[in-house]
Amino acid sequence: MLGIAVFLTAILAVAGEDLDSTDVVDTVHALDPSSLVGQLNVSLFEKLLLRTLPQAMIPLHHNCTDYSETGDCGLVVENKLCSTTLFYARYCCRSCTLAKQIPTYGPHLRLTAKIPVTARITTDTREFRYGENVTVTCEVSGSPVPEALWFVDDKYFDASGQPNATVEDLGGILRKTRRETITIPATMFTNNSLCICVAMNTEGRYESHLDISIKKDIGISFEILPGGRLFTLTDNITLECTAQGVSLKDIGWKMNEEILQSSDSYNITEERIVEDGETRIHSNITFLRPKVMDGYVLCFATTLAGDFKTTSTRIIVNDRGIQPSCKDIADRQECFDGRFNCDRDYVQNYCCRTCTLMGAMPVEPHLPSSAEAPLDVYLWLYSRDVLYGENIIMTCDTTGYPGTQKVVWYKGNTMIEESDHHSIEETVFKSPMSCDVSSSLIIRGLTKRDFGKYTCKAVNDITESESSAVLQITRDNKFVLYQYDD
Ligand SMILES: *[C@@H]1O[C@H](CO)[C@@H](O)[C@H](O)[C@H]1NC(C)=O
Ligand SMILES: *[C@@H]1O[C@H](CO)[C@@H](O)[C@H](O)[C@H]1NC(C)=O
Ligand SMILES: *[C@@H]1O[C@H](CO)[C@@H](O)[C@H](O)[C@H]1NC(C)=O
Ligand SMILES: *[C@@H]1O[C@H](CO)[C@@H](O)[C@H](O)[C@H]1NC(C)=O
Ligand SMILES: *[C@@H]1O[C@H](CO)[C@@H](O)[C@H](O)[C@H]1NC(C)=O
Ligand SMILES: *[C@@H]1O[C@H](CO)[C@@H](O)[C@H](O)[C@H]1NC(C)=O
Ligand SMILES: *[C@@H]1O[C@H](CO)[C@@H](O)[C@H](O)[C@H]1NC(C)=O
Ligand SMILES: *[C@@H]1O[C@H](CO)[C@@H](O)[C@H](O)[C@H]1NC(C)=O
Repeated sequence: MLGIAVFLTAILAVAGEDLDSTDVVDTVHALDPSSLVGQLNVSLFEKLLLRTLPQAMIPLHHNCTDYSETGDCGLVVENKLCSTTLFYARYCCRSCTLAKQIPTYGPHLRLTAKIPVTARITTDTREFRYGENVTVTCEVSGSPVPEALWFVDDKYFDASGQPNATVEDLGGILRKTRRETITIPATMFTNNSLCICVAMNTEGRYESHLDISIKKDIGISFEILPGGRLFTLTDNITLECTAQGVSLKDIGWKMNEEILQSSDSYNITEERIVEDGETRIHSNITFLRPKVMDGYVLCFATTLAGDFKTTSTRIIVNDRGIQPSCKDIADRQECFDGRFNCDRDYVQNYCCRTCTLMGAMPVEPHLPSSAEAPLDVYLWLYSRDVLYGENIIMTCDTTGYPGTQKVVWYKGNTMIEESDHHSIEETVFKSPMSCDVSSSLIIRGLTKRDFGKYTCKAVNDITESESSAVLQITRDNKFVLYQYDD
């Protein structure tokens, strides 16, 4: 046992002797061999040797110490950080050198490497909704852990009094991180802003920026009811306007550049709902003393940022009296949009009120009309210059009212089904008080068997009509459709 202790002492002595006494200040505290005598067994000896031997063999420069008071140097060694960045080597020189993770001599001895101060706003850059409180998170790190200072558009923002400000220490080895979250109230900005987080400690400062961009088009959606409409002086004329949007401030009414207000001429009622930060305003205007007019009534919305949006509807008021039995059987909007077709009998039947107000029908005597729209069918050859064996297209144009007519094709007396040989394509176009359906029959690989009589038949709720033609070939090899009359 004594031999071992002596051996240990010898090592320690050698370690000390070899070194220049000015450079090496911090030699290892020698073990007292006498205290070990009689207590050492093999495993204890091994432990001791492992702990002492490296220290004894490595000369430490007097610039080489552990500065950390927190015991972080053990973690620096454990996490093998010593050689990753110079400041670990500087501040944990002793532990790192002894753990042989860095060389004894090196730039770390110059004591110049600093623990960097950093700031990083972790909030994603995005467009913020107008009127939204903006929550921003910033992580600052350094040693000692820096303070986070906030600026909004270069003005210091004191987050300490804010209800939702939070500070969280995230720790870190040697270099400590702190996370601060603040909420900037929407009232602080209406336009794009710059938010700055500054990390500051005795060692330095660092900034991180976040552009707060405010959604400019706040997407106000608008609806005005009814659409264009014809009224008489005795009608209750009420228009409804609904607008919604995050930054919606007000809605109002305008006519002939004049703002309409509740008075003995107009009654305006308003309802406001704020939900999920979005404002919805519903306003009704009633014309208390309608006058004969033809013009646009505008509903306008203003936003908190001062933007302006309008929507309008055309209102025609005239002084014709309407018999109670004279109504718009068709949809009022469709009658209004189709009012220029009032010269047609069936339109007068379906839109008696509108057509009377348009002056297309006499007010009195009002003779109930039961005219129906004709169902027109016209068959024609789309492609003539085709060769035998090629494809040919026959088209059937139909116009009718009401509803959408169904169009079918016949070859002789047999209805044509779609197949490899025949296909049918249809387009439907609805206009006020009228519906056009165009059906095309495509015959593939035209041959003699395709010659003959074709019929196109249209059917709607009221009536049905058809048109027939004969497909033939001429001497000079052209295809023709002869209108068929029996
Ligand atoms: C060696 O000594 C230590 C401390 O006296 C003791 O804890 C350990 O059990 C011993 N080991 C053996 C293998 O005797
Ligand atoms: C030790 O630190 C001092 C400053 O504290 C510096 O001037 C000197 O160069 C350092 N020694 C080495 C070997 O870098
Ligand atoms: C923003 O914060 C204020 C309180 O500071 C609150 O009244 C308001 O509802 C918040 N706005 C949104 C959109 O959350
Ligand atoms: C504070 O946080 C609560 C819950 O997260 C939230 O409802 C409230 O709107 C926040 N206040 C502000 C001013 O953002
Ligand atoms: C927002 O920008 C507009 C136009 O750029 C300006 O007129 C307005 O004063 C700004 N508002 C604020 C609060 O800075
Ligand atoms: C107009 O409104 C008044 C009161 O609300 C009601 O008595 C009257 O029947 C309405 N007239 C028409 C034509 O709807
Ligand atoms: C305006 O309309 C509201 C709601 O319809 C009604 O209560 C009020 O009496 C009307 N005012 C006038 C002056 O007609
Ligand atoms: C506007 O009129 C509609 C339909 O008459 C009614 O349902 C609604 O409550 C009215 N709104 C207001 C704010 O008067």
